[in-house]
Amino acid sequence: MTGAGRSRALAAGIEMPLLGIGVWEIPDGRPAEDSVRWALEAGYRHVDTAQGYGNEASVGRALRSSGVSRDEVFVTTKFFPGSRDPVREVERSLEHLGIDELDLYLVHWPQGGPTRAWRGMERALERGLTRAIGVSNYDRRELARVIAAADVPPAVNQVLFNPFNFRRRLLAACDEQGVVLEAYSPLTHGRDLAHEAVVQVARRTGRTPAQVMLRWAVQRQVPVIPKSTRCERIVENSRVFDFSLDERDMAALDRLDRTGGTGRATEGKWWTVGGRARNLAARLARPLRG
Ligand SMILES: NC(=O)c1ccc[n+]([C@@H]2O[C@H](COP(=O)([O-])OP(=O)(O)OC[C@H]3O[C@@H](n4cnc5c(N)ncnc54)[C@H](OP(=O)(O)O)[C@@H]3O)[C@@H](O)[C@H]2O)c1
Repeated sequence: MTGAGRSRALAAGIEMPLLGIGVWEIPDGRPAEDSVRWALEAGYRHVDTAQGYGNEASVGRALRSSGVSRDEVFVTTKFFPGSRDPVREVERSLEHLGIDELDLYLVHWPQGGPTRAWRGMERALERGLTRAIGVSNYDRRELARVIAAADVPPAVNQVLFNPFNFRRRLLAACDEQGVVLEAYSPLTHGRDLAHEAVVQVARRTGRTPAQVMLRWAVQRQVPVIPKSTRCERIVENSRVFDFSLDERDMAALDRLDRTGGTGRATEGKWWTVGGRARNLAARLARPLRG
């Protein structure tokens, strides 16, 4: 989705569309291909996948069969931090995706420390395998550490961000450092769409709860990557640039924050021992991490 006010300039001088389709938990094959194809047909020009999602090949097939030219679509994938070498892994991703260069390559989470993978990410950039590099699930301190060690700082930090996870301190830290905060699970993974306060704003604006949540983010220039496997929802989620929320609605949504305006990126670091224990139940329910 491009056009005035519909993209955000990254530090690297690249335009990132504010709306993308996320494909976590969409099975490889027909389901992932359909979602990406429907999104491209609905005007999305941004796809968010990851090496850990196992569906890069389907994303690639949908890109090729869509008829939309490669340079019109912003493609992100993420380095799986259980692997060793970001360069080797991005070469594999490009092969799966059937493209020569990514638009954005993210460290999926700071496993082994926030700087462990960064030199390899910079090498991927130097070799022209991606136009921009960034991180995901980095809190304020981790972001400061990678920036201090970097030749090229991260352009993006993709984190859990929606009205219920309004991480004000993290957003401010990203803004201060010139890092674009990108919102994953912008629809709360579907869990809080029926919350009374969201439904009320939806009624007031004549929109759906999903549109209201997405609008809340894009109105503050935060890119969103909602996931859906249903064509009608993919279309619904794309209609967030033809209305706005007034101050009262924005404030009502801001008040839903359950994080206390945190500088953290996530409440459970699933890649650490302590986080693993806390997240055991959730992880059993979800074999692949988003
Ligand atoms: N970097 C990371 O660690 C990380 C972590 C999580 C997610 N992500 C990325 O962010 C993307 C989005 O996050 P997410 O998948 O966790 O969740 P989400 O986009 O917040 O929510 C997706 C859920 O909402 C439902 N949904 C979508 N549109 C809807 C609508 N209009 N009305 C009602 N329900 C709707 C979907 O169901 P249906 O599919 O049945 O429509 C699905 O259950 C992921 O796909 C992934 O690309 C990244």
